Amino acid sequence: MRISDFRSDTITKPTERMREAMRNAVVGDDVLGDDPTVKRLEEIAAKKVGKEAALFVPSGTMGNAIAVKVWTNEGEEVIVEEKAHIYNFESGHLAFISRVIPRPLPSKRGVYDLDLLRKAVNKRKDYHVPQPTLITLENTHNFWGGAVIPLEHFKEVRKIADERGLKVHLDGARIFNASIASGVPAHEYASCVDSIMFCLSKGLGAPIGSMLAGPREFIDKARHVRKMLGGGMRQVGVIAAAGIIALEEMVDRLKEDHRRAKILAEGLSKLPGIEINPDDVETNILFFKVRAMSAPELVNKLREHGVLALALSDEDVRMVTSKEVDDEDIHHALEVFEKILG
Ligand SMILES: Cc1ncc(COP(=O)(O)O)c(C=O)c1O
Repeated sequence: MRISDFRSDTITKPTERMREAMRNAVVGDDVLGDDPTVKRLEEIAAKKVGKEAALFVPSGTMGNAIAVKVWTNEGEEVIVEEKAHIYNFESGHLAFISRVIPRPLPSKRGVYDLDLLRKAVNKRKDYHVPQPTLITLENTHNFWGGAVIPLEHFKEVRKIADERGLKVHLDGARIFNASIASGVPAHEYASCVDSIMFCLSKGLGAPIGSMLAGPREFIDKARHVRKMLGGGMRQVGVIAAAGIIALEEMVDRLKEDHRRAKILAEGLSKLPGIEINPDDVETNILFFKVRAMSAPELVNKLREHGVLALALSDEDVRMVTSKEVDDEDIHHALEVFEKILG
């Protein structure tokens, strides 16, 4: 049976070019600072997002956790969007590692209400009141269905942060999806924030790894925190080699994932018992509501026919396109949906 896997873009497997680069990678002990392949990846990554320096980390979660730890002190407040990954899906590292207080704010598809944000930033200075020191952004926004946050919003958030000297960290796990969809280079988004994390292991297809980028002094501290968290890796050039290919060869093809997600969304929108607005699908992630049955029930039926998706609540399903699904998989998925719901 054909298996069409739409669970996530994290299922992507390394390409042949990546495997070859991994096999041939020149390596050293990266904790001692002498793995040339990691150094090269860090230089390429920093340049891509226009920052002074970058650090290779095992996961996006660790990159975000390190950024929060470096920018904050215990007991301070971190402003998060209420559906943000860093707040909802990273196992609570804000509290566990940084001991900060998350201040969730509502948004329109990941875009903060600027009045609410300004109010949250300009808190009364009073020793009873925890003071915010960091604002976080997410682009694309996973749980807003891969929404692209406009550059204009980044500029407004920067301005508000500067009113009180706050730092801004971007969870840019899928920043290249945002960039390809909007035509705004990743470094322009990054120029509005103090630090950015982005993933090599999602749509870009590397097997493991994310990058944290920012000012050199920040990255020096980040290296120290990474070691504390057990994220110092040794001959990790074998993995960094795949990351270099991800950044150099895999960014442009993301537009294919976006095109396929749109076709899938348009097909789904025509089916009874499914609620989705194809106009909301800007990149490679789509969320829809199921009315005909429960979401887990639908996902189980899909699986029986070789279509894999994730139920994220009783009524919400998420599907993600990646290099592991082609046009035939889109056709297959729509056929199976039709069989179940049509
Ligand atoms: C928006 C966002 N940020 C961060 C992460 C964390 O990345 P990782 O799974 O590498 O820890 C993810 C993972 O799905 C994500 O979607």
